[in-house]
Amino acid sequence: RLLSKALQQAGGGAPRRLYCTKGFFKSPHRAATTSSATSPKFDGTSDITSTPIPEITDAYPDLLTHRSIHQFSLEQPDEFWGRLAKSRLEWQEEFSTVTDHDFKNSHFRWFPEGKLNVSVNCVDRHARRHPDRVALIWEKDEPGQQEYVTYKQLQDDVCRVANVLRDSGVKKGDRVALYLPVSPLAVASMLACTRIGAIHSVVFAGFSAEALASRIKDAGAETVITADQAVRGGKVIELKKVVDEAVAKCSSIKRVFVGMRTGAKVNMGPKDISLDEAASRASTQCSPSVQGAEDLLFLLYTSGSTGSPKGVVHSTAGYLLYAAVTHKHAFDYRDGDVFGCVADIGWITGHSYVVYGPLANGATTVLFESTPTYPNPGRYWDTVSRLGITHFYCAPTALRLLLRYEDEWVQRYDRSSLRVLGSVGEPLNHEAWHWFNDLVGEKRCDLVDTWWQTETGGIMLSPRPSSPGAPILPGMPMRPMFGMRPVLCGTDGKEIPENGVDGALCVGSVWPGIARTVYGDHKRYIDTYMAPYPGYYFSGDGAHRDKDGHYHITGRMDDVINVTGHRLGTAEVEDAITEHEEVAEVAVVGYPHDVKGEGVFAFMVLKEETHSTNEEITADLKKLVRSQIAGYAVPDVFLVCSGLPKTRSGKIMRRILRKIASGKPEELGDISTLADPSVVEAIVNAHAALP
Ligand code: WTA
Repeated sequence: RLLSKALQQAGGGAPRRLYCTKGFFKSPHRAATTSSATSPKFDGTSDITSTPIPEITDAYPDLLTHRSIHQFSLEQPDEFWGRLAKSRLEWQEEFSTVTDHDFKNSHFRWFPEGKLNVSVNCVDRHARRHPDRVALIWEKDEPGQQEYVTYKQLQDDVCRVANVLRDSGVKKGDRVALYLPVSPLAVASMLACTRIGAIHSVVFAGFSAEALASRIKDAGAETVITADQAVRGGKVIELKKVVDEAVAKCSSIKRVFVGMRTGAKVNMGPKDISLDEAASRASTQCSPSVQGAEDLLFLLYTSGSTGSPKGVVHSTAGYLLYAAVTHKHAFDYRDGDVFGCVADIGWITGHSYVVYGPLANGATTVLFESTPTYPNPGRYWDTVSRLGITHFYCAPTALRLLLRYEDEWVQRYDRSSLRVLGSVGEPLNHEAWHWFNDLVGEKRCDLVDTWWQTETGGIMLSPRPSSPGAPILPGMPMRPMFGMRPVLCGTDGKEIPENGVDGALCVGSVWPGIARTVYGDHKRYIDTYMAPYPGYYFSGDGAHRDKDGHYHITGRMDDVINVTGHRLGTAEVEDAITEHEEVAEVAVVGYPHDVKGEGVFAFMVLKEETHSTNEEITADLKKLVRSQIAGYAVPDVFLVCSGLPKTRSGKIMRRILRKIASGKPEELGDISTLADPSVVEAIVNAHAALP
């Protein structure tokens, strides 16, 4: 109903052209599509509003509240997840074991004997029952040009791309790198990989050629799928050129599929294949590969505190189930809703809550290609009103940016379709919480601050689900999801049982969405997540549990910083900067930033003999970081120092640098253990002299 209302508003009631992407696999049946495809049908099968989890409450009628179901999910994980896996997923072969794990060696297996295919679960089973339901609404960069893709159309496109991949030699288990704009093409490509059992590795299309190349190499990918160009915020991004540069460094690459986004003429070399041409010739039938529940589904690279980004590995059944269940219950998603998660598909939020969670639930999901301020700061709310969005899920950094503008930018658009607001990626500060809740949501929507990570696969803490009417407090994710036992550990490594304490945020239970390993480096997986607090999964974050048992995230405990909601390892930035021949030493830290959450601060020592000015070096370094990593990684501040604070054993004292960067030199504490305490005074003075 909401969708058809939105369609009427957008199209003035005129018959719409559906899914008419320029050149995107045109096929004869498209031209004949009618507006009947625009009214999603409610089939009622997955409505869960009367009881929180029907599969559980039907069997255990006493379990009606979130608290009791949560407790049950921890005490009887096999019963809880087994029932959900059977009813929420479609299996080609049933499983007999629910979970089988070995914490010591960090092996986690869910539904091991089960066989299924992710694209069947996300597309075919919905296309079978309601082919004309809208699966994707592509909110393109230019407002007012949205396109609609039904489940049947998505199924056809997934099969076409899957056939193209299969025919060109991509096999089960092969890694395929995707470097694409947020678009139906990207979703079809991800699902096409799953259809033939290939493992996708989506690389955010803002990463540089160098960053793309290192991910291709680490994954040993032979295939890339990209597009001619991307458009974002009115700017053209030359995707194909970046891919050409990356592929030149990767001998493993055998083929590059180039889809059409703008239709620009791009260089086509011997390895390049036009995806549109190949797909329009391909069949819309493609038999799905029968995948094991524990087969690898995808890799997604994410920053850690040391070394290069790690390829986090997610599995087929466990990940999909967890994404689907959390999408439904954290957000109270119901059939007929229009789910608007504005994350890029290059991040885990895009994977779990633009693509896999919503599509597994047969939802209508929005693909947002633009930026929060293009062409003006009302863009999000214009999109909400045009598309009839019921759920709006975004990052706090965007809210902090938008709240600086006049309220009028929000008020001028009809937001009556909204029912649930969500945020993810960083702490949602009180000012942003109130702006979102009070102004955008008119105090009538549920606002869920969701805490989770690339490694957890899906939401772990969120104010919902909970008993209806349970309060939502500003600025904290509050409550654990089903199956999640949050644990705070102290400096002695032991669990702290009391409330009203701070500690290292760990998980003391197993859940289906946990990443299974780091690609090619299981030891790194164990060392990072399992070794720090034996018997628990360690998140890398600190948290506070208040006197009522609600969780509040205090921030990273390691050298990962969170810039505009994106994870960045300080070591990665340092590696890029030290490539400059005039830089002797550098230390990068995060510091509080009003809009970005954290800014990037580089303290550096130059070599004695330099032939450039400090301004020239800084300009070079900005280019260098951009070309090695991405634009968001470029430091906000470069400070040239005469030396860095080090212990006598030569270790840089980052604690001190973090205080200076935050403008709190009075909180430096004891610096007597430094090899040369006088460097601190020099750095403090240099910082004070910054413009
Ligand atoms: C941070 C994003 C505070 C946290 C889904 C975590 C948050 C990292 C929140 C994961 C939140 C995520 N409140 N901090 N609600 N959500 N974070 O892997 O530091 O890109 O460890 O996954 O973001 O970032 P990632």
